[in-house]
Amino acid sequence: MSEARPLWHGRFHEGPSEELLAFTSSLEYDRDLAADDLTGSRAHVRMLAKVGLITGEEEQALLDALRQVGEELEAGAFDFAPTDEDIHTAIERRVTDIAGAAGAKLHTGRSRNDQVALDLRLWLRREGRALVAAIQGLQEVLVVRAEEAEDAYLPGYTHLQRAQPVLLAHHLLAHVWAFARDVERWRDTLTRTDVSPLGAGALAGSSLPLDPDAVADELGFATRFHNSLDAVSDRDFVAEALFAASLTQVHLSRLGEEVMLWSSDEFGFVQLADAYSTGSSMLPQKKNPDIAELARGKAGRLIGHLAGFLATLKGLPLAYDRDLQEDKEPLFDAVRTCRLALQAMSGLLASAEFSVDRMRAAADAASSAATDLAEHLVRAHMPFREAHALVGGLVRQSVERGIPLEELVTNEPRLGPEALALLQPGEAVRRRTSPGGAGPEPVARQLEEARSRLAEQRHWFGHEPDDR
Ligand code: ARG
Repeated sequence: MSEARPLWHGRFHEGPSEELLAFTSSLEYDRDLAADDLTGSRAHVRMLAKVGLITGEEEQALLDALRQVGEELEAGAFDFAPTDEDIHTAIERRVTDIAGAAGAKLHTGRSRNDQVALDLRLWLRREGRALVAAIQGLQEVLVVRAEEAEDAYLPGYTHLQRAQPVLLAHHLLAHVWAFARDVERWRDTLTRTDVSPLGAGALAGSSLPLDPDAVADELGFATRFHNSLDAVSDRDFVAEALFAASLTQVHLSRLGEEVMLWSSDEFGFVQLADAYSTGSSMLPQKKNPDIAELARGKAGRLIGHLAGFLATLKGLPLAYDRDLQEDKEPLFDAVRTCRLALQAMSGLLASAEFSVDRMRAAADAASSAATDLAEHLVRAHMPFREAHALVGGLVRQSVERGIPLEELVTNEPRLGPEALALLQPGEAVRRRTSPGGAGPEPVARQLEEARSRLAEQRHWFGHEPDDR
């Protein structure tokens, strides 16, 4: 049995067993909540003084002790006790050591249940914004690279088979819109995170004249809880953040997959900078896209965190259950991993060199213009199905008999010589003129739209991209 007494020693004859402490402690990872725990406690103390539950001197003694604890933690000089089962008990124990009788009033009207929910919301409010800044940083890189790409084009693929040429800018911007949806999702998630649970107590509120609105105000929350049972058992904001992080990571994974394909010798569309590539310990010639691979690989872990945490939540009766302690590790890991992946992929893409000649050569095959040939016939009033079959027949003959498509097109009376112009290099991409399409005109408009979306995002979050 341990010597030190836990906070709840009054009801117990003996202290906690080693096994209990080893199994139930969350201190190893919830230390990351220390700063938020101190922030929450300061607001709680001010509220206690405001409603007259502690005196002005007690308030000052508590605030001083909290500051000292903050300094000790910061300096690595904080002595953790074996009975500190989490950061909240550790801090309260130390505040009581320092402030004596006033310290023993810190937890007045508060439970770790509302306290831990508060801390986690404070943590996510800050770290979620930092993650959004990293998404915006990556979007910014993609937009700049899209602008620089000018009229470069490459094959667009379906089924990973060459389909129709698209501007490189169009391809890069496609990812910008996926990340724009992530930013919207994070905005929504962080709105629901922005609710103060402090004042819910263990589950039912308090007989003391607490003022949850004052605490919510002081901490800059948009609002406070409506129902104390819900306030301490709600972890929707964690599940939502895990989903938002998973989907952001899935988008990074898909982008990473393209980096892997494009940087292979087989495609040769992009060269990665040395600083964003790794070598092989055995094969001297290798230059590997490990960042892209890990962006893909870590998506699996994040999806696991989401699925695991939903499984944790699904059977829990109201209100707090200790199972909820399982919220922190997946959340911390998902948010941090995703942010690191965003930053690494931003650097990789900002420094990559696109091989636009290789892209153009791959896109200039005459068969890339097959759809344009069919649409040429459609303009002359041939039904599309018939036009599709006719052009498909020419492509088949070209493949089977080794005749250049150009020759077959010239000799096909229903197509005629002006159809030949459609097979000129770059023609197929220049002809993609419909709104949101892959050609120069719609892409120029799209670039403006992307730019103004980024400005709108900055306005929502009130920060510049990745202003760490
Ligand atoms: N470490 C706990 C958690 O993370 C704090 C809340 C403990 N509450 C309790 N009633 N045991 O959830």
